Amino acid sequence: MPEAVHPSAAPHPWTLNDIPYAAIQHDLIIAQDDWFYALAAASFVESLSDLYADNLLVYMHGDAETSAWLREQWEPEEMQHGRALRRYVETVWPEFDWQRAFDGFCADYRPYCKPELLEPTRTLEMMARCVVETGTSGLYGLFAQVAPEPVLRELVAHIRNDEVRHYKYFYHFFLRHQATQAHSRWRLARTVWQRLHEIGAEDAYLAVKHAHQVRHPGQVFERTDFERFQCVAGRWARDDYPYEMTVKMLLKPLHLPGLLNRLLLPLLIRRARHVVAP
Ligand SMILES: [Fe+2]
Ligand SMILES: [Fe+2]
Repeated sequence: MPEAVHPSAAPHPWTLNDIPYAAIQHDLIIAQDDWFYALAAASFVESLSDLYADNLLVYMHGDAETSAWLREQWEPEEMQHGRALRRYVETVWPEFDWQRAFDGFCADYRPYCKPELLEPTRTLEMMARCVVETGTSGLYGLFAQVAPEPVLRELVAHIRNDEVRHYKYFYHFFLRHQATQAHSRWRLARTVWQRLHEIGAEDAYLAVKHAHQVRHPGQVFERTDFERFQCVAGRWARDDYPYEMTVKMLLKPLHLPGLLNRLLLPLLIRRARHVVAP
């Protein structure tokens, strides 16, 4: 499980030049429609990170340490995730008009990213960010296990490592704010719970929908199409989702007493298995 770290200016650990796109084994991935949708959707959500960062920077105004990290580390790394995934999608499926699908996704999803939707206090917002980074760490951790193509496994492993590191930084900022603007365990748990329900809700649906509409012009994309996609993702997750790491990351900011933590952990891991892969 990630330990807290103190932020410092660190070089980005990888660039697109480190990913051997020319070595992609196309025959292992090109016919895998579910992977096309998963990767296109992930590239759209990551590529809106400048908007998420702008909102957060306004919200954290006056907090020099957090703002510097958001601007210099977090935003460039999240945007790089978007570019790296986009290049993978465009290399394997060159006929796909990525920009058009992304533009459609932005038009539909931007209204969901208003600064007013951030948490009421900085402590809770940093907690909520820990939940989001837990979600992305789990997702790319799963992809790194089940991806059918070696270059893709390498790429998503890099992204997964970034997301775990982002969690550590947000956790550090959370601790700093909790020291001066403390919330009860129950209030924190409520934020975790609310955010868990939001993960992958509207953004994933809209991202897959716009990828589908550009790939299959004229076909209507129904909720049932998305549910079928979710079923496939659930099958990927059944055996390979990092359940234990995810539950530990979610519980960490609650600072539960040792015994309660040990009692809850197996119960929640079982519950998480049921939710992720029913
Ligand atoms: Fe990311
Ligand atoms: Fe992240």
